[in-house]
Amino acid sequence: MKLKQWLSPIVYLASNWISLIGVVLVTTAGILWIFLLPSSLRGHSIDPYIGILQFMLLPAVFFAGLALIPLGIWWFKKRHKDQLPAVFPPLDFSNARFRRLLAFLAASTVANLVIGGHLTYKAVTYMESVSFCGQTCHVVMKPEFTAYQNSPHSRVECVSCHIGPGANWFVKSKISGSWQVISVTFNLYPRPIPTPIENLRPARETCEVCHWPQKFGGDRIRVFNNFSDDEKTKWTKSVLLMHIGGGNGYEGIHGAHMGPGVNIRYAHTDKQRQKIPWVEYTGKDGKTFTFKAEGYNGDGPGQLDVRTMDCMDCHNRPSHTYQLPERALNAAMADRQVDLSLPYVRKVALDVLKQNYATTEESEREIPARFRAYYEKNYPQLMASNRDGVERTAKAVMAVYAKNVFPDMKVTWGAYPNNLGHTDFDGCFRCHDERASKPDGRTIPMDCETCHKALAQDEESPKILSELGLDKRK
Ligand code: HEC
Ligand code: HEC
Ligand code: HEC
Ligand code: HEC
Ligand code: HEC
Repeated sequence: MKLKQWLSPIVYLASNWISLIGVVLVTTAGILWIFLLPSSLRGHSIDPYIGILQFMLLPAVFFAGLALIPLGIWWFKKRHKDQLPAVFPPLDFSNARFRRLLAFLAASTVANLVIGGHLTYKAVTYMESVSFCGQTCHVVMKPEFTAYQNSPHSRVECVSCHIGPGANWFVKSKISGSWQVISVTFNLYPRPIPTPIENLRPARETCEVCHWPQKFGGDRIRVFNNFSDDEKTKWTKSVLLMHIGGGNGYEGIHGAHMGPGVNIRYAHTDKQRQKIPWVEYTGKDGKTFTFKAEGYNGDGPGQLDVRTMDCMDCHNRPSHTYQLPERALNAAMADRQVDLSLPYVRKVALDVLKQNYATTEESEREIPARFRAYYEKNYPQLMASNRDGVERTAKAVMAVYAKNVFPDMKVTWGAYPNNLGHTDFDGCFRCHDERASKPDGRTIPMDCETCHKALAQDEESPKILSELGLDKRK
């Protein structure tokens, strides 16, 4: 009798099939929620697919169910307008039925708020996680995720750069994110994913949360390792003193473009912002100069897209740094992952790396095989005396490829230009080509000492490194 009394409001509420489905959905999601609660409270490194189930599907089911219950009642009333009892039970507290209904509604609302709130919170934090951004769409984000893991930002969450703090961008990202989920589901996305990202948040609000321009400063030593393609590999080093500068001043690379009051705008003719025929520079004194590339006839930017320069115009690959084969191989060689005693090792490796492979599987099969085959054919004795070296190097060459080329996403060598520098891509030289200003008096300089001082150039053991005690780190 007791149980029947308690159940009666539920039965009453759910006496139509729409509400009934709603009740079933809410209950199922609620039970699953309790079931999965312990794992989600521990809350770290969840398998991306369980994550989708738990943090996206479950909340969706739960809230859909909640919405169906009143919808069913509304529909039921509309449908059975004429058959409803003429007199409803009076709505006062002396009516036991009404008290029970209220108690039930209150209790179930509190429960739903707790469960719903927790589910929403979990869904939101899950969608901000590196696992969701980087791994859920497996193939799509594989290039970015792989490069990210090998970058100085591998501990910085995707959302720190791609969304940043604040409610405004949060909503914007959820809107564009919904489209991304659809385009992945229905395979509508372009390959490779085009850059630059059009709605990337300005660096001021993302990068500068962690990197304070006031704290930049000084010079920094960079060592570049080079290796020859000869039979006997020669290892040389260039040492550059990079004039990074900045620190609220106008010194150096950062100061010249990012100093207080400095504003640089530029027009580009291509989507990737590689061709820059028009630059406008406003200095701290408010005076404006324009610079035109040779052969550009317009006075202003005309119809071209104009952009204000920020961190991303130089650091466009702070976390997804794909390298060209030469540079990537140099790094592996300097790390000694490559056996430098193998004859023509750089030439053979580059040759294998630059061939076309239709899929990742094909590259995993063919790259080590082709590398090995060269030595089997040309240096059979070596295969007997140093098979280990060949095998180890074949693996390292494969790793170089796997970090930079993703056939499934059509990300090949050089698909994403890196603007920091000028040897692999135009980079700084997109503007720094000695173009003169209007009004006269300034140029965007190309002089080799403008940005860095060469302390050593392609030397086998640069004196400067031994003076600084940096030569021991080999
Ligand atoms: C340190 C900041 C930073 C972090 C962290 C970061 N990104 Fe990016 N991401 C960028 C920038 C900058 C670009 C390129 C913008 C441009 O060229 O317009 C970019 C571009 C992309 C692109 C476009 C394709 C491409 O390669 O240019 C995708 C997709 C992407 N990021 C996904 C991710 C994912 C997934 C994560 C986390 C695993 C992540 N990003 C973490 C800064 C970041
Ligand atoms: C959430 C904090 C955070 C955000 C946001 C962030 N970074 Fe960083 N960044 C770091 C940390 C931490 C390091 C240092 C890693 C180290 O020293 O190993 C770093 C390192 C760097 C470096 C130095 C890499 C090197 O070669 O030493 C550059 C350049 C850089 N960030 C640029 C950017 C740019 C550009 C953005 C915006 C797109 C950005 N960062 C956004 C935290 C952040
Ligand atoms: C004009 C191009 C340019 C702009 C704009 C620029 N940077 Fe840099 N940044 C560089 C170069 C070049 C280096 C040195 C890289 C190297 O050592 O090879 C550098 C170095 C850095 C480093 C490493 C500093 C160190 O001491 O190791 C950080 C961090 C950094 N930049 C962050 C930023 C942030 C944040 C912004 C935006 C406020 C920004 N940069 C704007 C070109 C630029
Ligand atoms: C969008 C165009 C543009 C790009 C790209 C660009 N710069 Fe500049 N840079 C300028 C302008 C404009 C000036 C100011 C020239 C002047 O003083 O009249 C400048 C000035 C400088 C200066 C100061 C020069 C001096 O005479 O004191 C340095 C150093 C510098 N840039 C380094 C770099 C580096 C390094 C890169 C690449 C990572 C780079 N720039 C990329 C436009 C650019
Ligand atoms: C506008 C600034 C700028 C000017 C001018 C400039 N460089 Fe550079 N250069 C850079 C930057 C930035 C890097 C570092 C790239 C990186 O971090 O990978 C670099 C790197 C290099 C490297 C090492 C690259 C490598 O991959 O081995 C060499 C060599 C070099 N520059 C030579 C020159 C010479 C020669 C000139 C004169 C024609 C010159 N640079 C003019 C900014 C400049």
